[in-house]
Amino acid sequence: MQKPGAGQGGCLLRTYRRRKEKPQGVHSSGRVVVVKVSFFRSRHVLLAVVLAALTLIVLVIYAQACHNSSAMQSSGSVQLGTAVAVEPLRDDELYTQILRSEFEVLTAEDAMKFGSLQPSRGRYDFSSADAIVSFAEANNMQVRGHTLVWHMQLPSWLEDGNFTRDELIAILKEHITTVVEHYRGRVSAWDVVNEAVDDDGSLKDTIWLRGIGPEYIDMAFRWAHEADPQAKLFYNDYGGEGLGRKPQAIYTLVQDLRERNIPIHGVGLQMHVSVEDHPAPWSVALNMALLATLGLEVDITEMDVQLQDGSGTMEERLAAQARVYNDMAVVCRRSSACKRFIIWGVTDRYSWIRNAVNEQDMPLLFDKFYQPKPAYQSVEEALGSQ
Ligand code: XIL
Repeated sequence: MQKPGAGQGGCLLRTYRRRKEKPQGVHSSGRVVVVKVSFFRSRHVLLAVVLAALTLIVLVIYAQACHNSSAMQSSGSVQLGTAVAVEPLRDDELYTQILRSEFEVLTAEDAMKFGSLQPSRGRYDFSSADAIVSFAEANNMQVRGHTLVWHMQLPSWLEDGNFTRDELIAILKEHITTVVEHYRGRVSAWDVVNEAVDDDGSLKDTIWLRGIGPEYIDMAFRWAHEADPQAKLFYNDYGGEGLGRKPQAIYTLVQDLRERNIPIHGVGLQMHVSVEDHPAPWSVALNMALLATLGLEVDITEMDVQLQDGSGTMEERLAAQARVYNDMAVVCRRSSACKRFIIWGVTDRYSWIRNAVNEQDMPLLFDKFYQPKPAYQSVEEALGSQ
């Protein structure tokens, strides 16, 4: 996870480099000139000037983000969403009641992943994903599709297939086209590419990068756009929420896509964080403002806040968790680029964190008895009065 205050964002780094040029034209004649030259030669003074300039730029961008926010608040357009698991959707009445009453957007937690949709080659199973989309439509909710290209939860026929580059391209094209066409006009936004960037900023070594090369990203966005020109297409990742090496690399990636007219409309910030380890809200605001300068939307797509690493009593940890949720919801509401605030699950009872990290954790808005937690009130406060 991104530590608070670490590193710099994309635009800022480039500005920094531009401003770091050495002063030119050193003259030896004349006292005043010599004083000037030694003044500018002082690395400390130069550094101070650069830092001051940098601070000014940060403040201007941040002020711009805050300025945009007032329009956002009055337009009130942040939608609250959640990831949905298909089993409780089918047989847990309380779960579906909460979905209906609290959320405006649904993401398929697992049902739209490659392995779920195409368990054997060429045989598609849309039953679970269709159940989620139909439920959303029946209840006037939007659907975010998750996810078309990822290196996890792939079917074994694909992982073990030893396919040639041309075969992999054909498989990916057919999968994206079939799935996006199946949901054309019903899924309003897709996480087209998920988690392609590594923590060091390089492209992650995956079946897609190894088998096709970096152009798999361009291809995926193009094919998704052809299959549904109205759907908003997102790049989605974790650890890219604040500022630092990975957010910088994501910025550079999506900037390059935009410059080459690849159809991308947004970046998803997953926001799997904990009470002890989360980005500073100001750094998320700044990152959103930077991405917005590229004309992109920036949704929070998978938020949960673990509390096992927190200190103090459970009551104090629940309060700390509520503050993290509130901070990020406020950042989203204040950014004109942030349209959706999605939580990765409804109740602690079914959170993936319990399997993946710690079975004692309670990272969501509702506890395992479906009671709203302080985090629920804090998100409501942040988004409810829009
Ligand atoms: C998780 C699901 O919640 C689990 O049910 C599944 O076992 C593993 O994947 N980033 C993503 C999501 O983009 O798809 C992941 O979802 C969580 C991390």
